[in-house]
Amino acid sequence: MVELFVAEGAGVVVADVDSSRGSALATSLGSKAIFLQADMGEPQDVQALVDATVASLGGLHVMVNNAAVSSAMHPRLLDEDLADFERVMRINMRGIMLGTQAAARHMVTHGGGSIINISAISGLQAGFGVACYRVAKAGVIQFSKSAAIDLAGYGVRVNCIAPGNIRTGMNAFR
Ligand SMILES: NC(=O)c1ccc[n+]([C@@H]2O[C@H](COP(=O)([O-])OP(=O)(O)OC[C@H]3O[C@@H](n4cnc5c(N)ncnc54)[C@H](O)[C@@H]3O)[C@@H](O)[C@H]2O)c1
Repeated sequence: MVELFVAEGAGVVVADVDSSRGSALATSLGSKAIFLQADMGEPQDVQALVDATVASLGGLHVMVNNAAVSSAMHPRLLDEDLADFERVMRINMRGIMLGTQAAARHMVTHGGGSIINISAISGLQAGFGVACYRVAKAGVIQFSKSAAIDLAGYGVRVNCIAPGNIRTGMNAFR
């Protein structure tokens, strides 16, 4: 996504809790991309990210809320543990709320914008395992629909993408 935004001529802030991979990606894309470390589950980090983006690039027109973790691959719901549930919800659901709210608060007073929340096909379909992940991703879909209605009057579009399985860092173990 970052590569495509840069190819389209956008200035991009790459944000990730993992500073080594995030800064390597930004560096590989030249002067149009910069890296800022942020934990998307932390309200102060998310607000600081939006503030620094506006200060560095002169605005914020598109926010992609992409950060997520996978839940443990327990085959049975009976084995799911609450700490894992809360870890997944904190990033995959709370992070979407924080990212959407912080970006929208800027966009509503600066001519609107576009917010893109990354869900997953597992937010639409039930199946064995990763129950916490499925619940969080289903929540992203409903949250995005509600936010789209809520923010439409301010010129802020909210969309949601639900990809299928792709071999990335998240599921490389499978
Ligand atoms: N890979 C798949 O099969 C698949 C399928 C459907 C949806 N998705 C979704 O696509 C998005 C991207 O995932 P990916 O497959 O590229 O996996 P990935 O693990 O490569 O990327 C996720 C990124 O989120 C970052 N991250 C984790 N916690 C964070 C936090 N608290 N704050 C900031 N950044 C944090 C990680 O460091 C990582 O760089 C996720 O929302 C994921 O749920 C992936």
